[in-house]
Amino acid sequence: MDSNVSQKLFLSRRLAHANMFVSDYVKASDFYRNVFGFAEAYRQPDNLASFLSNGNTYHDFALVDIRSKYAKAGQRPGLNHLAFEVDSEADLVNAYKAALTAGIQFIGPADHDVARSIYLKDPDGNEIEFYADVVEDWEATRRGIIVKQKPRWIPGETNVPDTRHLYNPNPNLKQLPDTLVRGKRVTHMALVTRDFSSMYRFYTEVAGLRPFFSSQDGTSVLLAGTASTGDIALTRDERFTPGMHHVGVEVWSEDDLRAAAKGVGDFGGKIVREVDHASRHAVCVQDTDGLVMQLYVNRDWTPKTIATASSEDLPFLL
Ligand SMILES: [Fe+2]
Repeated sequence: MDSNVSQKLFLSRRLAHANMFVSDYVKASDFYRNVFGFAEAYRQPDNLASFLSNGNTYHDFALVDIRSKYAKAGQRPGLNHLAFEVDSEADLVNAYKAALTAGIQFIGPADHDVARSIYLKDPDGNEIEFYADVVEDWEATRRGIIVKQKPRWIPGETNVPDTRHLYNPNPNLKQLPDTLVRGKRVTHMALVTRDFSSMYRFYTEVAGLRPFFSSQDGTSVLLAGTASTGDIALTRDERFTPGMHHVGVEVWSEDDLRAAAKGVGDFGGKIVREVDHASRHAVCVQDTDGLVMQLYVNRDWTPKTIATASSEDLPFLL
């Protein structure tokens, strides 16, 4: 990255989805539905992938099989990529051009019909996607079984970028009637890094996030987009392995957290940590592939109250 990048490039609204490799996408899709309460919005059998959403975004979770054509040889379950939503396709394309000028390297663009995306890697090698919705009603087309070639898209060349803000600012979120937990939406991701300063610069300067909370000792920071109170938590805590620590999943009420704590074992999941704090009540649940979802309900989610959490709890609270 050019050291002269001083302004924000992509101005992210929020973390929009977590795309993860799983050992069996059909089983994982059932688990994420029956345990976490996320409905399958659509499925791509040719990619061995299931996409889940309760209406927040066109998918909050993508569960991609480790045998998918998108997996490398020997792929293990874990993070595939995380995606940020920006306001419009025009903003996406303008930021992409500015980033190219600043010397940032990209994996490439993709057209997903309802959204257009640009992919790159953060300094730790985690894959990042920036995207903009390009239709108003994604639910009308992204449902059921989808098998389709991606259209050719060259940002700013194959079409005039749309300047409209097409995301729904107030989606009608559904609740499934028969699930262990009623998941609402994916809101954030916590990453463990050994190169904290480069990662901080990337997420503030390239992804356009601002600090929402920082711990006094600087071990952890929570960064937020323009429409959120926390999208990326970075921690340099040496007790943890670098990479994805957890995905933050907001649930409807504390009843859902109690249900998770009591019942997830029946589905083969495991509680790894519960933090019952004045800022947030969080229950971290490991799925059958070992991926950790932080189920939570916010209480007084303010920097002042978060600051009262212990350093032991903080990585599981943010
Ligand atoms: Fe994605």
